[in-house]
Amino acid sequence: MMCAARTLQPTDRIENTNRNTLQALVESELGLSLDRGGIASALAAYARKKAHSLGIHDEDELAAVVMSDARAFNELIEAVAVTHTWFFRDLEQLQGAASFLADRAAKTGEPPRVWVPACATGDEAYSLAALAEGARTEAEILGTDINLAALQRAREGVYGAWAVRWVPQRMKSALSPCAGSSYEVVPSLKRSVSFAQHNLLHEPPRSSAADGLWDLIVCRNVLIYLTREHARRVVDNLRQALRIGGALILGASDVVFELPLGLAPASIDHRLVFLRQAGAPPPVAPSTLEILAEEARAPMMDAPKVPARAPLHSGATWRFETREPCAPLQRPTHDAPAVNGDGSMASRQMLAGISRYLDGDVQGAARQLRAALLLEARLWPAAYYLALCYDAMGLGSDARQLYWRVADLIASGAPLPIDAELGFKFLEQEVLRIVRRRVAGT
Ligand SMILES: C[S@@+](CC[C@H](N)C(=O)[O-])C[C@H]1O[C@@H](n2cnc3c(N)ncnc32)[C@H](O)[C@@H]1O
Repeated sequence: MMCAARTLQPTDRIENTNRNTLQALVESELGLSLDRGGIASALAAYARKKAHSLGIHDEDELAAVVMSDARAFNELIEAVAVTHTWFFRDLEQLQGAASFLADRAAKTGEPPRVWVPACATGDEAYSLAALAEGARTEAEILGTDINLAALQRAREGVYGAWAVRWVPQRMKSALSPCAGSSYEVVPSLKRSVSFAQHNLLHEPPRSSAADGLWDLIVCRNVLIYLTREHARRVVDNLRQALRIGGALILGASDVVFELPLGLAPASIDHRLVFLRQAGAPPPVAPSTLEILAEEARAPMMDAPKVPARAPLHSGATWRFETREPCAPLQRPTHDAPAVNGDGSMASRQMLAGISRYLDGDVQGAARQLRAALLLEARLWPAAYYLALCYDAMGLGSDARQLYWRVADLIASGAPLPIDAELGFKFLEQEVLRIVRRRVAGT
């Protein structure tokens, strides 16, 4: 992993050279991709400071110190980990998780076991505990993270006003005001959640159940920071840690373009979850699971609404530009479609996604359109609108791949796999012309 030693001049070169060796370490030990969410610049700043404080001018030496000294390694984690989280983040999804837990408890007669990996400062684990308590479900919740400082704050359970700014009225009793403008998690919730350090690249922790498996895993907003290869491995580890019928919930930005084998998509309260299926899945072929984290290339804070780009659907009139089809183009490879499955849920997701796009909420639209395509890969209108979203988000090459997919689907002449074709049929030729023009870049 280490590069051959190079001696640095004690100048600003420390930043450029140290970053290379520490980069390898951050990627192999934490799975983090350096091109995500400011991780590279955070690492460079850490390297500069650490090298200066130790009087080190050699990049291998600095990496060796970080690897052999637990304290320095934890400092590195704290420097590069993005621990951005808050209470009741994506409330709708957490409510779905709580109703899943209530069902599960009723079916099994046992308290469901929940693992919340990458829980940062614990806000999400406590939020889930509060919602489960509200649904009269006793659940055992374990929050884990690689970041010790974040876990320390999680155990203390004291939060500033920012973290609790979106607490729904009925959940206010989960927190009690304390010194200054802080809030503390109430004792009953603290009792139902425990915390431990865990690296997602390692073997999953065991639950207290005899089989050591989990009924629910809520792993949100961390895959987007990982390299594709590591994200694949992590999803497979999470699948193996689930009980049959157990659910995996990913964050809205953690996009799985193909289904992890052994997991089936399902809807809980209209949100996508993955259920562990019975039977041993075939061995995972790395090439079959593609995880694309496009938000990772955008700023990590919740992205503002991006104004949608033309063409737009205004009222009942479709205003598409029409031009003659272009000559055939060199076709790029693109992610294979996932499944041909639940048409009604897929079309609901698609319509909701299209309305969000028309409303200018490109991020929200992309989320729902991706879910629609995951459930039903032949929905070309979903692929088309997702491509428009990607264009609006500046993700040109992803958009182009989707335009290809749309062209293929329409050209195949297959009917849309939903009950009513929803009036899309008459748009096929218009859309075909547009996507051909877009892949030609004209
Ligand atoms: C943005 S926070 C997500 C917090 C919470 N899950 C949410 O959705 O609000 C990402 C967390 O992932 C953690 N993390 C990053 N790499 C990790 C790894 N390899 N293993 C475990 N946790 C990791 C970071 O320390 C950070 O706390």
